Order: sequence, then structure tokens, then C-alpha cells
Amino acid sequence: MFLSCIWFLELLLLSLLFNVNSAQTIVKSLPGYPGELPFKLETGYVSVGKNDTVQLFYYFIESERDAVRDPLVLWLTGGIGCSAFSGLVYEIGPLNFDAESYNGSLPSFILNPYSWTKIANIILLDLPVGTGFSYATTSQGYLSSDTKSTNDAYMFLQKWLLNHPKFINNRLYIAGDSYGGKIAPMVVLEITKGGNEAGLTPHMSIEGYLIGNPAMNVPKDMNWRVPYAHLLALISDEYYERAKSSCDGEYMNPNPNNTECQFALQLIKQCTSDICLSHILEPICKFRAPKLDGLKWDLTYFEEDPNDVLLLSSDQENPKCRFTDYVLSYVWMNNPSVREALQIRKGTKEKWKRCNGSLPISYDQDVTSVFDHHQVLSTKGYQALVYSGDHDMMIPYIGTLRWIRDLNLTLEEDWRPWFLNGQIAGFVFKFLALTYYYVCYIFSGWRSHRPRIQAKRMFCHDRPMVLLLSFVDQERKASREYFSTVTRKIQFKIPILLFQSSQKILVR
Ligand SMILES: *[C@@H]1O[C@H](CO)[C@@H](O)[C@H](O)[C@H]1NC(C)=O
Ligand SMILES: *[C@@H]1O[C@H](CO)[C@@H](O)[C@H](O)[C@H]1NC(C)=O
Ligand SMILES: *[C@@H]1O[C@H](CO)[C@@H](O)[C@H](O)[C@H]1NC(C)=O
Ligand SMILES: *[C@@H]1O[C@H](CO)[C@@H](O)[C@H](O)[C@H]1NC(C)=O
Ligand SMILES: *[C@@H]1O[C@H](CO)[C@@H](O)[C@H](O)[C@H]1NC(C)=O
Repeated sequence: MFLSCIWFLELLLLSLLFNVNSAQTIVKSLPGYPGELPFKLETGYVSVGKNDTVQLFYYFIESERDAVRDPLVLWLTGGIGCSAFSGLVYEIGPLNFDAESYNGSLPSFILNPYSWTKIANIILLDLPVGTGFSYATTSQGYLSSDTKSTNDAYMFLQKWLLNHPKFINNRLYIAGDSYGGKIAPMVVLEITKGGNEAGLTPHMSIEGYLIGNPAMNVPKDMNWRVPYAHLLALISDEYYERAKSSCDGEYMNPNPNNTECQFALQLIKQCTSDICLSHILEPICKFRAPKLDGLKWDLTYFEEDPNDVLLLSSDQENPKCRFTDYVLSYVWMNNPSVREALQIRKGTKEKWKRCNGSLPISYDQDVTSVFDHHQVLSTKGYQALVYSGDHDMMIPYIGTLRWIRDLNLTLEEDWRPWFLNGQIAGFVFKFLALTYYYVCYIFSGWRSHRPRIQAKRMFCHDRPMVLLLSFVDQERKASREYFSTVTRKIQFKIPILLFQSSQKILVR
């Protein structure tokens, strides 16, 4: 009683100290979903940065199981500059657009039975500033970088937790795909060194991170696209050997004077420029003229005018591509009734974009590599889960495998098949770091977090989520049951790569 009083006072003081001027709303229903939402959704803004000039928008969904005991996950969507709403409806959240029944009016939702919110409290954050509904009150406030994003994320968590004290003691994970997978370990390190070890409050119960097809060192990650294209038979042995022997390992920024290398890359480009990088087996969107600079595909993906996409996708000649589904988010998000439901501040965002295409231009990627971050974190006893789709050419899994191996962790269990319903679903290997285990899984035929293209292929990105769920689940048995129920329905072969230190989970 006494302790909790002090605790409360401390929080109160902290709240005053930090000037927690955040705004939050409980959203009971959403346009496009009939009736009350069957989960607890909160949206809101938290001000961060110098002089509170940055207003970060978030969606928070409570665990549908046990909000008190389940972990708290901060989800960072990649891009750079793709909205957290993407995470909510296309990746890990409880709602999916009902693309099949879309008839030109307001898109409607169906529930995602594999939502991470089944077992975790999830905050989806529009980060960096300029993403989704996040905005700055000064033009200075829009200047952003890896370092600034990381600091903003930390300050966001600090203020958010003070405002939601009941979640301060929940186990905390930072998660993200693609570019979000680069920022996640930076945030974990900031929480550890900049926050907890420096004695800042509130002390955060950080347990680890989850990253999918993660960026680690973008120029290096992208260089792996050439060996990857060879591995997946997109280019011939001869083309690959040509590039390998002449380009000195530099395929993205080759020396313009090196004509032999330039020629080899030209041959490779011819073979790969019409491949869908997000999933090499998916149809490429015809309306998207590839914006290629040599072999340097952009890490970000832009949707062109949604109206173009809708027109094209109604044309039988053009197979639906993943961007067709993305269009529904533009239609839904830019509807005034939706803005009202989400309590978006008027006048702060003229148009919502799923990915802010102009943001990466001014964003300073001031931390080239996060290898050292991973290395330091691997000595701190955190759980780390890396999962990758092997059909993702944006950030090929072979590059990820390489840097994981370069961490020099002790191999505990070598590459072996991983079975699901008696079928090989992927491959696994396991590392030991200090007293903690790192397990790697590789799966086939999948991209880490991309949307459903057709109803039949709907499950193709769900299985890894279930794995992630089992990762963050402290009750392994319960999760295994959940896992087998949901995966029984899944017919697809799916790829993933994952490493984890499970020791802590078992003990807790
Ligand atoms: C914060 O406010 C002070 C005083 O008004 C100003 O000098 C400073 O430039 C501001 N900093 C930022 C980052 O806006
Ligand atoms: C589209 O479907 C919705 C129900 O999802 C219905 O209310 C609406 O009338 C339909 N509009 C058209 C133009 O068919
Ligand atoms: C390419 O050749 C030109 C002219 O010889 C030279 O000025 C330039 O520095 C060279 N570029 C590189 C990257 O070596
Ligand atoms: C995109 O980000 C920039 C800052 O880099 C911001 O000025 C702009 O308003 C953002 N656009 C959208 C549509 O959110
Ligand atoms: C891993 O081991 C190699 C070979 O011993 C060494 O060169 C490298 O620096 C080590 N890397 C790390 C991250 O310790």
C-alpha cells in the first residue's frame, strides 16, 4: 500500500516533469466494420523532440488474451516512411481489408485470426515524423535521421508508459520489418544504454526485439541482390560470374569507368528489372514504371495514383498485384468519417499516404550499419528473433544469414528442416550467445510481411506470425496449441528466418 503510494507519487512527479501532454482516444467502432470492435483500440498523439515540436501518432491495441501479463510490443513499419496503419491492416494487426467484396464505396474490414494482438499488446507507431499521421509543428521539426528517430521512439515510449502506467511492468519488445528492422535494435540499445543503464525513468522492462527481412546496412543488404538473383536462378551462371569477377563485389555503386562490370550489370538488369522485388513470384504492377538507377532499386515503394491502380486492376489483362490491395487504404484513410473516428487533428495532414515518398529524400541515414548494435545486444541476454521470407529480394535473406553468422555466436544446432503438419515448412538453426539461445529458421516461398493477393493465397504470410506469436508467448504449451490450430488451415510453404534466445522465456 505504502509502496504503491510512493510509486504513484513518483509517476505523478514524472508526469509533471515530462509534461506529458498527449492526447488519446478509445476508438469503439470504425467505418467499414459493423458494430463495436471486438478488441480495444486506442489512437493518440505523443509529443516528442526539442520543444515538443514533433507529434507522433500511434495506434494501440490491447492484447485480446491477458493485457496485464502479455508482452507489450512497439511495432515500427519500414519504408522509410510507411505508415503504422500498414502494420495494422496488412501485416500484424487484427483487421484486414475485405478486398474481395470491395465495390467502390468505403472499403470494409474482416478480422485477421492471426493477429499478434491475440497474445500481445501492440503499439503501432507512425515513425519517423512525417509518416502516416505524425507531423511537426515547425519545418525544423521535420528534419529526421536514424538517430533522431531512435531518440523520438525512446521519448515516445517514456511518455506513453507514464501515461499508461499499467503497462510499465509488461515485458517490452521492439519489432519491425525492413527498414523498421534497422531502427528496432537501435531503439533497444537506446532503452538499454541511454535509458535503463543511465537510470532514467521509467525503467523499461525490455526483453528483446523481433525483426523481419531487416535492413542492417542498406548498401550491403542491396548488394546481396545479385548473388540472390543467381541463387534463385533469375540470372545465369555466366552473368553472375561476369559480374563477380569484374565488379569487385560492388553491384549497387559500381565504378562508372569499369566497362566490364557495367556490361555485366546491364545483362543482370535486363533479367531482373521486371521482377517484383517484394516477392519474386508475385505479378509486377504494370502501372509502376520501375524507377531504376542501375541496379539500385529503391528501398521504398511508392503507390502511384490510387485511381490508376483501381482502373487497371478491374482490367482482366492485368493480374492483381500487391499494390491493388494497398489502394484500399488510401480510399479508407482519406474518408472524413475515418479521420473523425481516429480523432485525427484537423489541418495536420492534407492527404494520408501509406508510404510518404518524399520523406526518404530528406531523411538522413546517419547510422550506416547496425551490426555493432546487434553485437552489443547479443551480449546483453536479450531475445532476438530474425525472420525472413526467402522470396523477398528487397533485403535478401542470404545477406541476413551472413551478418548473423558474422556475430560469431556459438552454433548450438546446425541447419535442419522444420516441420509443420508433417511437411517441411522451413529450416532452422540455433545459436548460443552467453547463456541465451539464438535460433534461426528459414522458410520457403514467402515474403516477411506482405499483403494477401488473393483470398486463396491469404495464408501465405500468416505462418511466420504464428511463430512470432509463439516467440513472445511465455506459455509455450498454450502457444503450441494455438500454433497447431491455426496452421492446420495453412497450405502454403512459407519462408522465415529467425533467431531467438528462448532461455528467458522458459524461466519466466
Ligand atoms: C526551441 O525553442 C527555443 C526557444 O524558443 C529555440 O531557440 C530553439 O531553436 C527551438 N528548438 C527547436 C529544435 O525547435
Ligand atoms: C457496396 O457494398 C456496401 C456494403 O458493403 C453497400 O452498402 C453499398 O450499397 C454497395 N455499393 C454499391 C455501389 O454497390
Ligand atoms: C573515371 O575516369 C575519369 C576520366 O579518366 C576520372 O576523372 C574519374 O575519376 C574516374 N572515376 C572513377 C570513379 O574512377
Ligand atoms: C512527408 O514527409 C514530409 C517530411 O519529410 C512532410 O513535410 C510531408 O508533409 C509528409 N507528407 C505526407 C503526405 O504525410
Ligand atoms: C568473428 O571472428 C572472426 C575470425 O576470428 C574475426 O575476424 C571477427 O572480428 C569476429 N567478429 C566479431 C564480431 O567478433
